Amino acid sequence: MINIRRATLDDVPGMMVQLNEYARQAEILPRTKDDVYRTIREWVVAEKVEDGDLTQSIVGMGSLLIMWRDLAEIRSLVIDPTCQGLGLGRQIVTLLIAEAKTLNIPQLFALTRKPGFFLKMGFQMTRLETLPRKVHRDCVFCPRFHACDEVAVILNYELGITNYEGRRSS
Ligand SMILES: CC(C)(COP(=O)(O)OP(=O)(O)OC[C@H]1O[C@@H](n2cnc3c(N)ncnc32)[C@H](O)[C@@H]1OP(=O)(O)O)[C@@H](O)C(=O)NCCC(=O)NCCS
Repeated sequence: MINIRRATLDDVPGMMVQLNEYARQAEILPRTKDDVYRTIREWVVAEKVEDGDLTQSIVGMGSLLIMWRDLAEIRSLVIDPTCQGLGLGRQIVTLLIAEAKTLNIPQLFALTRKPGFFLKMGFQMTRLETLPRKVHRDCVFCPRFHACDEVAVILNYELGITNYEGRRSS
């Protein structure tokens, strides 16, 4: 059984295993343990509970970083390879979108090498230049800034572009 829930401080060691592996593969930017502890309230995790021995393990996660009053970023979305394709990425993003809505944040973006997944979630491609807050806050400090291979995707449900199930909204 896999539960999607808010992260707790006890999850951090298990989260770091996944985060370090995907950072090593350059799928996400590195996150330090210190950073994850400090931002733990931003994170949602997928936890696998094995039947019988009650062993629990973290098999996926994602975080929502508020950038400004009308903009948030989905960061560090990763699903363990053994659990990909089961809808966990969708469930985590859906929860993060719901949280942004609760906070009245109309726009969410992500920088990703997997834009196809986000397009399925109703995001649209955009140019990094349309996200100056992100560029000035993070990108200019990134060693890959001038050779960035990530794509910017954005979801603006307030403008009725698409909703998070990928359908046209009114
Ligand atoms: C990208 C990732 C988060 C997707 O998570 P997932 O749990 O495997 O995805 P889901 O099962 O929820 O898929 C939801 C939909 O997106 C589609 N999808 C998943 N990955 C996709 C991809 N790379 N390209 C295009 N579509 C994709 C699925 O087919 C599914 O479509 P459907 O609803 O029509 O069946 C996961 O593959 C992953 O962790 N990849 C490595 C790390 C990474 O690249 N993270 C993104 C950095 S921001």
